[in-house]
Amino acid sequence: MQGKVIIITGASSGIGAATARLLAARGAKVVLGARREDKLQALAEDIRAAGGEAIYQVLDVTRQADNDAIVQLAQETYGRVDVIFLNAGIMPSSPLSALKTDDWHAMVDINIKGVLNGVAAVLPTFTRQKSGQVIATSSVAGLKAYPNSAVYGGTKWFVREFMEVLRMESAMEGTHIRTATIYPAAIHTELLHTISDPATAAGMQALYQTHGIAPERIASVVAFAIEQPDDTTVSEFTVGPASQPW
Ligand SMILES: NC(=O)c1ccc[n+]([C@@H]2O[C@H](COP(=O)([O-])OP(=O)(O)OC[C@H]3O[C@@H](n4cnc5c(N)ncnc54)[C@H](OP(=O)(O)O)[C@@H]3O)[C@@H](O)[C@H]2O)c1
Repeated sequence: MQGKVIIITGASSGIGAATARLLAARGAKVVLGARREDKLQALAEDIRAAGGEAIYQVLDVTRQADNDAIVQLAQETYGRVDVIFLNAGIMPSSPLSALKTDDWHAMVDINIKGVLNGVAAVLPTFTRQKSGQVIATSSVAGLKAYPNSAVYGGTKWFVREFMEVLRMESAMEGTHIRTATIYPAAIHTELLHTISDPATAAGMQALYQTHGIAPERIASVVAFAIEQPDDTTVSEFTVGPASQPW
């Protein structure tokens, strides 16, 4: 971990923020991206005050230029990029019959296109270096079907397919890019604030109040994936509350 340059998208809260704190505490140089600048600034200051190294840049993952710019910032500041953690996401779940089509499209733009844009931004660097690691946050909703999660789950199933093919093609092409995909269950973050359907929000709040665990649990798994030897990929982790049955 020591000295690795790690870009984190969706770093302003929840899993991304917890991961930034942990990786920086273990010696990584973290490059934080999200839309809320005040949150990024406060987090970067906290990390520096604790003796860590952090910079940040406002990033909307739906814009290719923003993704390119944060990779460029990392390279200009630290000279390389070792890991990108593609973690930005939203979960405005609802039944299909509610026809929340704006939410459907926003999930596709952020959860799918955001991942594509991040990989497109970093792949030339990783290919040139013949090293690098892409870590992405999917979801247990990317492994099995849940009512109210047709579109959210679909975006997360996409991440699974995409990451596995990235791993395969990189191995075939000899570029040695490691991948890891995380499938969290109920984790206490700001994610439920993105749900606009009141009945779905109430049901999810109840589930999370009963079962939710801290985002630091995911951070430690991300760290584990990064800390494996360079010749070793640990591709997939399902991580959730021991009490959560589905
Ligand atoms: N919490 C769970 O139970 C759970 C379970 C499975 C999977 N996940 C996944 O975990 C990831 C992180 O979510 P979280 O649970 O930590 O929730 P969170 O606290 O709401 O964090 C989501 C992060 O994504 C960022 N984001 C959203 N839209 C963005 C955009 N267009 N451009 C850049 N950043 C954007 C948010 O920052 P800004 O608003 O500042 O941009 C925030 O930093 C998501 O991909 C989510 O789907 C979470």
